[in-house]
Amino acid sequence: MSSFLIGGGKKLFGSVPISVSKNSTLAILCASILNGGNTFIKDCPKIRDVQILIEILRSIGAKTVEKSDGVLIDFSGAANTVLPCELTSKIRASFFLVGPMLSKFHEVTICRPGGCKIGTRPIDIHLDGLKSLGVEVEETDQYLIFTSNRLTGGEYRFRYPSVGATVNLILASVLSKGTTVLYNCAKEPEIVDLQRYLRAIGAKIKGAGSSIVTIEGVDFLRADVDFRPIPDRIEAGTFLIGALGCGGDVEINGCFAKNIWSLIKKFDNNACKITVNNVNIYRDNIYIKSTGSLRSFKKIKTSPYPFFPTDLQPQMGALAAKIKGRTQITENVFDSRFAYLDELKKMGVRILIKDNSAIIFGSTLKGALVEAKDLRGGAGLLLAGLFAEGETKLLGGEHI
Ligand code: UD1
Repeated sequence: MSSFLIGGGKKLFGSVPISVSKNSTLAILCASILNGGNTFIKDCPKIRDVQILIEILRSIGAKTVEKSDGVLIDFSGAANTVLPCELTSKIRASFFLVGPMLSKFHEVTICRPGGCKIGTRPIDIHLDGLKSLGVEVEETDQYLIFTSNRLTGGEYRFRYPSVGATVNLILASVLSKGTTVLYNCAKEPEIVDLQRYLRAIGAKIKGAGSSIVTIEGVDFLRADVDFRPIPDRIEAGTFLIGALGCGGDVEINGCFAKNIWSLIKKFDNNACKITVNNVNIYRDNIYIKSTGSLRSFKKIKTSPYPFFPTDLQPQMGALAAKIKGRTQITENVFDSRFAYLDELKKMGVRILIKDNSAIIFGSTLKGALVEAKDLRGGAGLLLAGLFAEGETKLLGGEHI
């Protein structure tokens, strides 16, 4: 287990560049299976989930070259359609491989998915959607075996706009014989980015960013592309929250402010000045200057995009914990995303939790020994360490 030692109570000054989006990269890596040409993912983030997914791609037949400025993927050959359990069970996004494997190879065998422990994370929507498009699924204790002929298109309405299920159904449909219309799709920026990639390799797909996506199947996808996924909105949001909680003067470089507007809006007229400078269509810089003590947010509720993202909930929880007054957080996306609050209590905060709501009574945070149990909860605790008086030791650093 790795750990962070955090000296809290310091103001932050300087500028920080934002990496390429983790979730966008994961979806695009899965989609790269479909490309008969070479995909170069520029500035591919060098993080654990991405590295595991690249390893899975290699183990099933991709040739990959890792360069200093990105990763080159060539998936023009045959594939081993039984995905390696020891790797796929480590990351939730491995399940996004089902759609493209079916599209291209008409079969895939995979273990039940793993990923961050933030709730039950069922796969019923993925299965229901794939079956409705004509895919057959056989379930054994350990495996899910998917088979299909070339899909012929159809219509499907998601009962909930699941990000992963939207990725899977889009990727299952791009090489169909007919047209597929998907209703109530996830509208997250990473889904829009995935469609941008698919269009770049020749897919016919419409409706990016709306709840209805129409995919006209094509016979093949082939193009050599040099693709830089969008900046990571959750990373940008985490730095923004950190800058506001610590105070100081910070510039967040190369992000899309509109993708975190639900967060930026929360700071309107609240003891800080946030300025967005649009550099060009690919990047904004955000300047944050603290001008006093923040007031409590009263209520924060997570919901699918464009509303407040669940992936920034723990970081906001950490900020709420240091602002005098009471903040109610309601988590509407995952059913178990409050594990970090038990750790936050060790830093001297009173917190009441009932069902999917938590009331945080902000006060002075005190450094403590705490443990990260998942990525975003860990990021929240790391921020809490920066906001606290004294020293914090944060275990479980590998999640972050
Ligand atoms: C993706 C993101 C994750 C983000 C989440 C919500 C990746 C790699 N991960 O995760 O960072 O927090 O979107 O924005 O992109 N659900 C079902 N049945 C299903 C699928 C999902 O009930 O078949 C439920 C989940 O349990 C959860 C909710 O739907 O409560 C949202 O899940 P989903 O949007 O699918 O999230 P992921 O794709 O796993």
